[in-house]
Amino acid sequence: MKIAVVGTGYVGLVTGTCLAETGNEVICVDINEKKVEMMKAGKLPIYEPGLEQLFHRNIAQDRLKFTSNLAEGIAEAKIIFLALPTPPGGDGAADLSYVLGAAGDIAKIITEYKVIVTKSTVPVGTADKVTAAMQQHAAPGVEYAVVSNPEFLREGVAVEDFMKPDRVVVGTTDERARKLMAELYGPYVRQGNPIIFMDERSSELTKYAANSFLATKISFMNEIANLCELVGADVDMVRRGIGADDRIGKRFLFAGIGYGGSCFPKDVQALAKSAEENQYDFRILNSVMEVNEIQKNVLTEKVKKYYKGDLKGKHFALWGLAFKPETDDIREAPALYIIDSLLAAGATVSAFDPEGMNNVQTLLGDKITYAANQYDALKDADALLIVTEWSLFRTPDFGRIEELLKAKVIFDGRNLYDLDKMIDCGFYYNSIGRKEVK
Ligand code: UDX
Repeated sequence: MKIAVVGTGYVGLVTGTCLAETGNEVICVDINEKKVEMMKAGKLPIYEPGLEQLFHRNIAQDRLKFTSNLAEGIAEAKIIFLALPTPPGGDGAADLSYVLGAAGDIAKIITEYKVIVTKSTVPVGTADKVTAAMQQHAAPGVEYAVVSNPEFLREGVAVEDFMKPDRVVVGTTDERARKLMAELYGPYVRQGNPIIFMDERSSELTKYAANSFLATKISFMNEIANLCELVGADVDMVRRGIGADDRIGKRFLFAGIGYGGSCFPKDVQALAKSAEENQYDFRILNSVMEVNEIQKNVLTEKVKKYYKGDLKGKHFALWGLAFKPETDDIREAPALYIIDSLLAAGATVSAFDPEGMNNVQTLLGDKITYAANQYDALKDADALLIVTEWSLFRTPDFGRIEELLKAKVIFDGRNLYDLDKMIDCGFYYNSIGRKEVK
């Protein structure tokens, strides 16, 4: 099938590349000409495991193309995906100007039936707004359907999530569009996972409900962790204890230093806002956000308490900058909050992250130092802070850590190490929701 993907950000590129992989002919459209030239030359502008190989293969086989010309990009496409940014506006509601602008532009060009699919995370009612934007500009008699098809891609495993989704959600009331979408996604659900068809509004809400539910799970566990510390319980044990119940499930129960990334903070905020606009006070969501704000400071609070409030002249090693492992993404990364408060308290920071260093350097410049590897970061540091749970940090050489640090002190925001191991090694070790090892 011939497909166009408008917007070559993270979601657009994964979507375009993975759709090409099953034999579709895909053209990706982006207004950024430099980026288009770069992709034409075979350079992938994002880091995502497994994507590069598919990207190159499909370019080489002429199934994946790029253009900055919208008319050229959508001319032959049956289905046009919109994967454009929906940043939070000043009031917390998602800003739809890119999506609606593109819809209007597409409407001006098309001359035959097309399916316009919103992939971006958009508030309930957006499909109607996109339809209205198209009606304004489309030539009389030209037919089209506006479909909601939210993505559930996790950074780091996005290719796998796209190729073998747990489910595909498609919101449409247009029979022709439904058939085309079923045909398009058929190869991805061969294992029997469902394509769930529903109306546009339910589909739009499904995306927000999924992310907000997961964020709720995390904030809930973070509060359990905080309580564990007060009552002398171990959150890892509680996690295993409750996760064994199928109704709760093992996944997404890890306490830490707050959820980050480009989706959860934005989506929870947008859903709360959308509830408010409908005169509904979504109390749980407000608490989820409040808890997350507090949790971002938990690690620095522990550090401050340990040094009795005085961090002036202290030097800290940070392991991890990306908001989670296997990505270079630092949007809403807890590391940025931690760095900010350490610097504000008069401390200095040396950091290492396998992928996130360039992005942080662009943002923070020489406010911190960037180490060549995880051990280099430790030189002359008063303590080690673990911020992102990269596999690389899970089994370090504790002897080397001891040699390089000025004192045997570790603050762990991701609960990477066994408490017994830390006792054996003689470290001061303070993690989340577990006993302090002194
Ligand atoms: C998320 C959703 O999982 C995905 O379905 C959606 O489409 C986009 O948003 P992503 O932002 O890539 O994906 O990250 P995810 O792996 O879900 O983690 C989000 C945040 O939650 C991270 O900051 C992570 O550290 C945190 N988290 C996750 C926890 O603190 N504890 C957990 O148990 C799981």
